[in-house]
Amino acid sequence: MRAPKSRFRSAKLAALCIFIVHCKQGLPDAPTESTVSESPSPLPPESRARMVFSSRCASCHGSEGRGDGVAAAGLQPRPRNFADPAWHDRANDAYLRRVIVEGGAAVGRSALMPPAPDLRGQPLVLDALVQQVRVMMHAAPAQTH
Ligand code: HEC
Repeated sequence: MRAPKSRFRSAKLAALCIFIVHCKQGLPDAPTESTVSESPSPLPPESRARMVFSSRCASCHGSEGRGDGVAAAGLQPRPRNFADPAWHDRANDAYLRRVIVEGGAAVGRSALMPPAPDLRGQPLVLDALVQQVRVMMHAAPAQTH
């Protein structure tokens, strides 16, 4: 009678392990990631935001934020051109933070704009990234003529 019982228990344990692993995968912030990102960094948030932009945004939005990155060619809709002042007037900072962290689909826009959930745990970097997007309005004026 002992054997079947312990088999049952190990089956339950295995199921529990699978459950835990799945839950962990489903979490936007893996604990290890947020601990690493919140630990003191020698770099100021502005520099880290610049690194995030060039490594994770520029491929689509372009290094100047004009929506002309190497991966943008085949995308429909096109990645946002951050040099458009009219768009900056329409989009407030809270909206920008949300679309960056949760992705386009979360705000009713294209899912081609991917979420960056790890940035939720790095509010200073996220704010600096939003400011960088703002500055691109001036740094890369649209060439209309
Ligand atoms: C795989 C390509 C891709 C990457 C990588 C990407 N984006 Fe986007 N992004 C898009 C597309 C496409 C849109 C346009 C979505 C739409 O208009 O529906 C967009 C839109 C946006 C918008 C404007 C949303 C709006 O309402 O107009 C912001 C802000 C933005 N992206 C910021 C970022 C930032 C910051 C990063 C890096 C952390 C990033 N994106 C990475 C493709 C990308």
